[in-house]
Amino acid sequence: MKTIIEPFKIKSVEPIKFTTKEEREKLLKDVGNNPFLLHADDVLIDLLTDSGTSAMSSLQWAGIMNGDESYAGSRSFYRFEKMVKKITGMKYIIPTHQGRAAERILFSILGGKGKYIPNNTHFDTTRANIEFSGAEAVDLLNEEGKHPEIRADFKGNMDVEKLKEFIKNIGHENIPVCMLTITNNSGGGQPVSMQNIREVKEACKQYNIPMFLDACRFAENAYFIKKREKGYADKSVLEIAQETFSYADGATMSAKKDALVNIGGFLSINDDELAQKCRNLLIVTEGFPTYGGLAGRDLEAVAQGLEEVLDEHYLQYRIRSVEYLGEKLIGAGVPIIEPPGGHAIYIDAKRFLPAIPLEQFPGQALTCELYIHGGIRAVEIGSVMFGKYDSEGNLIPPPMELVRLAIPRRVYTQSHIDYVAEKIIEVYEKREQIKGLKITYQAPMLRHFTAKFEKIND
Ligand code: F0G
Repeated sequence: MKTIIEPFKIKSVEPIKFTTKEEREKLLKDVGNNPFLLHADDVLIDLLTDSGTSAMSSLQWAGIMNGDESYAGSRSFYRFEKMVKKITGMKYIIPTHQGRAAERILFSILGGKGKYIPNNTHFDTTRANIEFSGAEAVDLLNEEGKHPEIRADFKGNMDVEKLKEFIKNIGHENIPVCMLTITNNSGGGQPVSMQNIREVKEACKQYNIPMFLDACRFAENAYFIKKREKGYADKSVLEIAQETFSYADGATMSAKKDALVNIGGFLSINDDELAQKCRNLLIVTEGFPTYGGLAGRDLEAVAQGLEEVLDEHYLQYRIRSVEYLGEKLIGAGVPIIEPPGGHAIYIDAKRFLPAIPLEQFPGQALTCELYIHGGIRAVEIGSVMFGKYDSEGNLIPPPMELVRLAIPRRVYTQSHIDYVAEKIIEVYEKREQIKGLKITYQAPMLRHFTAKFEKIND
């Protein structure tokens, strides 16, 4: 494989702080072994999330200066609207301050008790907004997507047969919308094929159920389609994205991912009546429809970011740099979800630390060790985040115990990634020494953000 270089020059840099292992041991102990609670300044390589962590380009920063801050009818809104319309082809473009704001508006209107909303896999905030409305969020992921070790091209696909069955059992009148998350973040950043998007749409159309995309990583998904799906090799990523959106009746978007900005999002809709209702709610909680919770400059940066993310040199570098880390880890025997996803590598902590029972949180233990050993911050997606308990207090673990290494866009160079791989492999080589954890404090909801842990010393 030939070297694929970063398709940019670096004009502005931000120093990172080096700490010693002893310092990190103390820092982590002081925050109860929960890397979420560390000061970001004490992290060397921060792979907590790819959301809002992108490096903006010089043209985006120029857009920040150029932003029109008029309350109504801002020039920056029209630039933003034009760009989003070009990609999505949708009639109404409603800016929101981030993805979950779009979700909250949509599900406040479409959700409610007795309603069911399917998805390949709901992201946490999507699920939370649906459940908050009183509706139920249902995951209908394809079987192969549930097995970290199976290699397949489109492990984010929805199980269309299950969807059809689900519609028959629940009744189409109880399903106000069907979602499809591209790429499937909670399932390992795996892509969804165009064929699957088409089939989900057809199944929904038969029953008049609108199909919405959770489109945070639409450009990464389009690039995977170009590389892996028959008939798309000669199409541009823009054309593939346009086709993707052409099957949807609407979309929610966190611009903090594929729009390469630090804040922003939108809701795009074709239906006149639904758009009107969403806009009415937007005015109450987000802002006037031409800014929706953002500054004019933010809209300018989103519009520019959406142009840049469709550049195929960028996408080639982006997908390859994640795959590069994945290959290094696989080469050393580190168990990860295969093949590598679009925005992150997901370590399979069950296979990495088989001696630590799930009750002692192997994912969290690994996350702690990555910080202590290398100053790397990752996030546990396993028993701490999603564990439930039965009436006797026994842990009901989620199907997978993962540690996510999310790669911020355009932020780290190849040598940063080489360092990350090296450190993870060193941790893997001394994995027998890693100890499990017990919880000493937890909040009643979303405990992973603030829980505190103690090491179990045999
Ligand atoms: N949908 C997906 C698939 C996401 O990954 C996220 C955010 C959201 C919706 C919500 O967007 O943060 O702008 O409100 N994912 C981040 C992550 C937080 O780390 O994966 P938001």
